[in-house]
Amino acid sequence: MAKIFLDTAKLDEIREAASWGVLDGVTTNPTLMMRAGTADLKANTLEIVEIVQGPVSAEVVSTDAAGMIAEARDILSWSEHVFVKIPTTVEGLKAMREISSWPNGRINATLVFSPAQAYLVARAGASFASVFVGRMDDAGLDGMEVVRQTRAIFDNYGFDCQVLAASIRHTAHVVDALLAGADIITLPFGVLQKMIRSPFTDVGLERFLADWAKVAGQ
Ligand code: E4P
Repeated sequence: MAKIFLDTAKLDEIREAASWGVLDGVTTNPTLMMRAGTADLKANTLEIVEIVQGPVSAEVVSTDAAGMIAEARDILSWSEHVFVKIPTTVEGLKAMREISSWPNGRINATLVFSPAQAYLVARAGASFASVFVGRMDDAGLDGMEVVRQTRAIFDNYGFDCQVLAASIRHTAHVVDALLAGADIITLPFGVLQKMIRSPFTDVGLERFLADWAKVAGQ
């Protein structure tokens, strides 16, 4: 089964999605924290953990390996549900190698834009490789092809790193990610809302209720 994560730091959206019973986790990043209007990463992350009781990703802001490792040590101590998001750079790779040797070294490798990067982060011990589909599509590239190739590479070599389809823009991305065999899809709340809605369902339900009212009222 593919897991559904919400790509937001907004607690009201997370509470609502969790109440639908289909939410497995949450991803945040510094931009999403800014949109949620908070700089308190620890408090916000722990509130999210309280709601979802599943994987919640919190991102480091250091750019050197030593800084990332120090931040990761703190972030990972907050809860067993927290994954630390490390950027896919040379320094990030060094940090991943070290962090993945810890007993609690849960890593979400972020900003993956190629199957070659995905292979390296899997080698460095990341638990999730976050492929930024929408940003590649925005640049005229085929983002989902990177998900497909990453899936094939991980399967070829039996990596247990999970393919996380990120930067999702619309419901077609979700369906394509499911067809491509993504393990996890992280999506904005607006996309989750659109997944469940269909005007055909609304019209169909209205007709059923109207017909029932006719016969039940007899
Ligand atoms: C992934 O974890 C990222 O937070 C996210 O999907 C980035 O998406 P964006 O391209 O909408 O910023």
